[in-house]
Amino acid sequence: MNLVFFTGAGISAESGLRTFRDSDGLWEEYKIEDVATPEAFARDPGLVLHFYNQRREQVLNARPNAAHRTIAELEEQFDVHVVTQNIDDLHERAGSSHVIHLHGEIRKARSTKDPRSVTEINGSTLLLGDRCPLGSQLRPHIVWFGEEVPMLDKAAEVVKQADVLVVVGSSLQVYPAASLIHCTSAGCPLHVVDPSDVESGSVHVTHWNEKASSGLPRLASWLKEKYG
Ligand code: APR
Repeated sequence: MNLVFFTGAGISAESGLRTFRDSDGLWEEYKIEDVATPEAFARDPGLVLHFYNQRREQVLNARPNAAHRTIAELEEQFDVHVVTQNIDDLHERAGSSHVIHLHGEIRKARSTKDPRSVTEINGSTLLLGDRCPLGSQLRPHIVWFGEEVPMLDKAAEVVKQADVLVVVGSSLQVYPAASLIHCTSAGCPLHVVDPSDVESGSVHVTHWNEKASSGLPRLASWLKEKYG
């Protein structure tokens, strides 16, 4: 049974990482156009590097929570794939084997000359003057607003194969990522784990109206009961 999780910032909230659109979200404090667009990086690379250095520091100090761990543990019984909008590595650190990052990875850097040249960042900072082997400035390996989402097609293929799709901690407001939930096969059940109401536009949705760290273990028991 193919189980696909589509996750957003909310799954990492209980690991202490801020979401974007909640009341204390990152986009309440920073303007997207100042820190999360290619134009911002061209205009003030130091500010953008600083913004992601702060995020990276917090990710390094965070730990996976029960939601991440529950998803990883479900691999014992099901074929599990994670399609995440998150740039943290908490799914991997919890033990998930198949993770697709739609919006990039905070612990990696990319050449500004050759986008295929991607390296791990040792430690938490990426600074002006840090250069790729080709000699160009390194940038965060993040998909900024307005940029292509290279993993989209691969993610759509995974979602298409899902027997059950579970959305955890996403407001489903950012495209094209949010459109993926409509790539499921006809009749594929959709579950949403989120303490707030999320408009999924799907008729087959079951809403687990609670935080991820309590909702995922409950949902996992239900899945094992029904499909195990
Ligand atoms: N457990 C589960 N869900 C939670 C929790 C929690 N503890 N706390 C908050 N949430 C939910 C919120 O109710 C909301 O629906 O997580 C969702 C967070 O939504 P956003 O902040 O919009 O995050 P996300 O959907 O991941 O944003 C998508 O937007 O800014 C871009 O690239 C960024 O990947 C990000 C994309």
